[in-house]
Amino acid sequence: MNTTVPQHVAIIMDGNGRWAQQRGKIRTEGHRAGAKRLPKVVEALMAAGVKTLTVYAFSTENWKRPEAEVSFLMGLIPQFCKEQTEFARKHGIRLRVMGRMKGLPKAAQDALRKAMEETKDESKFTLVLALNYGGRAEILDAVNALLADKTRSGEVTEDVFRNYLYAPDIPDPDLMIRTGGEKRLSNFLLWELSYAELYVTDALWPDFDETELQKALDAYANRDRRYGGIKGGKE
Ligand code: FPP
Repeated sequence: MNTTVPQHVAIIMDGNGRWAQQRGKIRTEGHRAGAKRLPKVVEALMAAGVKTLTVYAFSTENWKRPEAEVSFLMGLIPQFCKEQTEFARKHGIRLRVMGRMKGLPKAAQDALRKAMEETKDESKFTLVLALNYGGRAEILDAVNALLADKTRSGEVTEDVFRNYLYAPDIPDPDLMIRTGGEKRLSNFLLWELSYAELYVTDALWPDFDETELQKALDAYANRDRRYGGIKGGKE
């Protein structure tokens, strides 16, 4: 395995609103352009040898946005599933969701379940949509699932705990990219990003093209990942 290529990339797709405003368009046009960018980034990541992409598509805090914007984003979900399921099957991509799915509108839930079912045997690449997702909510959901699990006993180690997270079978992200220039985690994958390399670019998400992606992958290849140890091991 080429360790200079991240196996799992996570992206905070920020800057859709600014992208639209810069062009004199309404914010939702930025989300539409952002949704179109996603399959292109997936294709480029697959070509680079990455196996998994997790994107922050809607956070537990995004409900605070104006009603029209929230409705637009919720309406994009069935549309995205419909458009992308065929693309996913053609390219060997499995679609998954992490987050409180039950809090999404029924049409979105139904479309997501269908997309997940129809791509469940694909194994070249996994695209995880974080929807109605919050890092703190995920940790609390894991704590409550663990407390409710009467089959288990004994000490709760990190390995035990991760089994109660939303996607325990997916290895933690190696690289987290945030577009739009803000230097925060915004409640994204709080447990899973503990040792991820962070890369922030000023490029707005709809402008995040193959060249911008390559810059992020190059930056990752030049990082020295030590996981709390020192370079070269114990010597
Ligand atoms: C942040 O940009 C972006 C979001 C809250 C939504 C991200 C969603 C997409 C890219 C569409 C993908 C959709 C699906 C269904 C997969 P912002 O609005 O905060 O931008 P700003 O910081 O410029 O205001």
